[in-house]
Amino acid sequence: MTPNLHDAPIGVFDSGLGGLTVAREIMRNLPAERIVYFGDTARVPYGSKSKNIIVRYSRQIVRFLKTQEIKAIVIACNTATALAFDEVANEAGMPVIGVVEPGARVAVQTTRNKNVGVIATRATIHTGAYTNAICSLDPEINVIEQACPMLVPLVEEGWIHDRITDEIIMRYLDDLLAHGIDTLILGCTHYPLLRSAIRKLVGDQVALINPAYETARELERLLSAEHLESTVPIAPGEPYPYRFYVSDDPQKFTDFANSILPVDVKNAKIIPIEEF
Ligand code: DGL
Repeated sequence: MTPNLHDAPIGVFDSGLGGLTVAREIMRNLPAERIVYFGDTARVPYGSKSKNIIVRYSRQIVRFLKTQEIKAIVIACNTATALAFDEVANEAGMPVIGVVEPGARVAVQTTRNKNVGVIATRATIHTGAYTNAICSLDPEINVIEQACPMLVPLVEEGWIHDRITDEIIMRYLDDLLAHGIDTLILGCTHYPLLRSAIRKLVGDQVALINPAYETARELERLLSAEHLESTVPIAPGEPYPYRFYVSDDPQKFTDFANSILPVDVKNAKIIPIEEF
């Protein structure tokens, strides 16, 4: 370990903007940690693509993140976690965590009637990753999964408070609600941005699980187990501790990041990710 590896950044990636909901929880809960974020804004959405493509994209991103001298990787994308976790872990050669296991764990702790709903991209749903993770913790839980392919484009377009978005969400949720779920996993990192719309539609009886918070806590445990926690708190005069990279449209990314993060994002840089 190089002497200052503790203070190296954590690499966080997603297909686009959604992973910022995970970065936000890391910023809030691990304020001493530095972050390098990559959003694959040129190639979003991943959720309608095949495993081969998602694995190729994810490995390219890991190779880029490794040039940033990071100490660990958070796959802040359910789709990449569900389809490419092993490949990312092999490529990385450092601790890696995804978002599916943490989300599944909270759902198992939360449900009372053992009917858990999962909404996610089509690719994530096809893997059955959430059902497998939940049932390995409690085989008695009935998991009902629903692919919601139209939600990521709506979030990327910024249609977060919109009657049309509400109608589409309701159509996706109808069947889950008919099954009497008491817990709903927001199984795509874009969906917490639709949380208030979803809350309005499902009412107070359904617990909404955002895996991002538990992922930040798992990251904390992992860094501690690997003796990788930051030892030097971020000082006020220190250069900005967060760096943002994208594969397209940095201005749109920066505007969006500023609307949801607790920090001021000055810019995002374009990376020719296909070259990695
Ligand atoms: N935000 C990602 C996820 O958690 C992927 C969305 C997409 O690119 O389709 O699944």
